[in-house]
Amino acid sequence: MRIAGKLAAQVLEMITEFVKPGVSTGELDDLCREFIVNDLKSIPANIGYKGFQHTICASLNNVICHGIPSHKKILKDGDILNIDVTVIKDGWHGDTSKMFIVGKTQPHNARLVQVTQECMYLGIKEVKPGARLGDIGAAIQNHAEKNYYSVVEDYCGHGIGKIYHEEPQVLHFGKKGTGLELQEGMCFTIEPMINQGSKYTKLLKDGWTVETKDGRNSAQWEHTIAVTADGYEILTRREEEIGI
Ligand code: MF3
Ligand code: CO
Ligand code: CO
Repeated sequence: MRIAGKLAAQVLEMITEFVKPGVSTGELDDLCREFIVNDLKSIPANIGYKGFQHTICASLNNVICHGIPSHKKILKDGDILNIDVTVIKDGWHGDTSKMFIVGKTQPHNARLVQVTQECMYLGIKEVKPGARLGDIGAAIQNHAEKNYYSVVEDYCGHGIGKIYHEEPQVLHFGKKGTGLELQEGMCFTIEPMINQGSKYTKLLKDGWTVETKDGRNSAQWEHTIAVTADGYEILTRREEEIGI
């Protein structure tokens, strides 16, 4: 899991310099696929997953998650973009996503992106043996709502290992002291989706793209986490994330 997580992190590090106005999400998808296959000698887990055809999910602005990359979707100044990628190495999965600000965005978007990352980190900090899944959800929900945002409830984090999505479901809302008790060795993702407006979602007719119902923007960050004897290890940590 450490190896798969590190490789997934390297995909997001590699793609960062290419995310700028004028590039299409289809081109970003091509670059990630070639990097995973040719450089990392790994498998892009999303290709063929429940019929999905691409390596990354590319979720722009009011898209909450599972955006389909396209050569017709050209990034423009001010966009906010989530790239979500999962690699398989030696049968193990590493699943991670980050937000990119394209050029310069409005302050309200930058703030959404930052607060959503803080929500993820606050959730991660709850992880240790004896803690409960509800502690993670409560930490995320409290921080989001304190900032007048809403937490998407229709999609959640998940156990991960040799199987991409497995038990338990990791909700990004909840009550402290409730839910499954964490044990050393468990691996799961924490991947809050936070909305500027209401929490409600809309699935497009393509069967994948999930948008906010009210058309306002949404952000998401994701890490794959392992429960250690005294806390957590972020398996998909990037070099830019120091001291976490
Ligand atoms: N990586 C997503 C998650 O965090 C799932 C994407 S499934 C896909 O769980 F098929 F849309 F790629
Ligand atoms: Co995930
Ligand atoms: Co993911």
